[in-house]
Amino acid sequence: IPVEPFDLVIFGGTGDLARRKILPALFRRYCAGQIPQDARIIGAARRTQNADAYRSFVAEAIREFSTPRHCEDGTLEGFLSCLDYVAVDALGDEGWHELASKINGDRVRAYYFSVGPRLFGPLAQRTKAHGLANDQTRIVVEKPFGHDLDSAKALNATLADHFHEGQIYRIDHYLGKETVQNLMAVRFGNMLFEPLWNSQYVDHIQITVAESVGVGGRGEYYDRAGAMRDMMQNHLMQLFCLIAMEPPAKFDPDAVRDEKLKVIRALDPVEPHHIVRGQYLAREGEAEEHPSYREAVGNPRSTTESYIALRTHISNWRWAGTPFYLRTGKRLKARSSVINVMFKDAPHSIFGADAGRHANVLSIRLQPNEGITLKVTIKEPGQGGMRLVDVPLDMSFAEALGPEGQDPPDAYERLIMDVVRGNQTLFMRGDEVEAAWAWTDPVIAGWESRGDVPKPYESGSTGPGDAELLIKRDGRRWQGINP
Ligand code: BG6
Repeated sequence: IPVEPFDLVIFGGTGDLARRKILPALFRRYCAGQIPQDARIIGAARRTQNADAYRSFVAEAIREFSTPRHCEDGTLEGFLSCLDYVAVDALGDEGWHELASKINGDRVRAYYFSVGPRLFGPLAQRTKAHGLANDQTRIVVEKPFGHDLDSAKALNATLADHFHEGQIYRIDHYLGKETVQNLMAVRFGNMLFEPLWNSQYVDHIQITVAESVGVGGRGEYYDRAGAMRDMMQNHLMQLFCLIAMEPPAKFDPDAVRDEKLKVIRALDPVEPHHIVRGQYLAREGEAEEHPSYREAVGNPRSTTESYIALRTHISNWRWAGTPFYLRTGKRLKARSSVINVMFKDAPHSIFGADAGRHANVLSIRLQPNEGITLKVTIKEPGQGGMRLVDVPLDMSFAEALGPEGQDPPDAYERLIMDVVRGNQTLFMRGDEVEAAWAWTDPVIAGWESRGDVPKPYESGSTGPGDAELLIKRDGRRWQGINP
């Protein structure tokens, strides 16, 4: 169903994120028939160029980064004709008058701040001052939303000077992923799981977001952030909230975000001996192609972590006593994001000690090969008495859902259309971001004051050995990292 015509201005419209994600996402939604022909997508950046030059830039970006949908001939031309360009100075007055002249009457106006956070304030202020904002105005801001609690508070305060919370869309692209929303569907759409979703039946939960890539060309940013700020404070925290939260009364923005916030606020501080940080080494013989972390960021003495594993706990009625183990890292064995809900053993085995210990595991695979597996225990086939074996009840979403399941909108497609529709459910609220930083800050301050140095780990491995110990000490083990 097409949305109503809208104006979308992308500040930073010639930048990397616009090129790789935002513009290809818009194109795919256009191909899907969701963007009406009289929608306006206006690139805004410092560079002076005309609209035709910008259209060529966008066409190039689409060729490079958009996996094509079934587009009819002429679709790209149709999309390009929705585009325009204005040279705008985020820190001065140039270009704003022209931009204002291109914005239409009272339809939805969205301003995507695809720029560094230091420009959020100046852009918000000028958007307002130059008469570009109305009641229908939404602004979209990217991560990193702050570097710590103080900076996140300052950003929230700056944005609040010009826009109210209902107009601010803070992106965490993990929330736009198909399977992340499926987490809620699985939990709250089935009778089967929710009654068991608590410390009485769940032994512990593991959340793994493993990447096979390194820091690439983002060394300067990454070395100041590290895995805790880059991934744990936001993406893993979001997954964690969706897995752990109480059922919201409805699937509406504040009902869902209120529940997520309660989870973060109920988190215990993380004990120092429940944190393992790591930093990747080059693999032998591959140092040129895949350099070590320190080489990749150009900082031979860096103590920033490219891997973090930690154990945390929620002090509330549902989860008292259930540990959550979270880990994420770069240059690991495979790209694999999985949530494993590890159920307790059956309270008593009628089959005797020989049958071994068997427990159900519900694995929710977020990427790649999205799907769900439930490990169940059955009788081993054969005549030799009652021996038990674990087998997977396996479902791949792509297989189960056919063509629809194989080509779902990617995170940016979904999130941008949600902005246009005015649905904030999959965006972070200001208080949520601040609460996540309030939990993160002492963890980082702790290792900084102790002078902890990350443990080296081999590229292509499962991370530092200490991360195995972290969970082994509790008599548990990580599920494998498999593609
Ligand atoms: C980004 C991080 O937010 O998410 C990157 O800054 C990371 O470091 C990326 O690689 C992972 O996203 P995805 O969608 O590839 O899992």
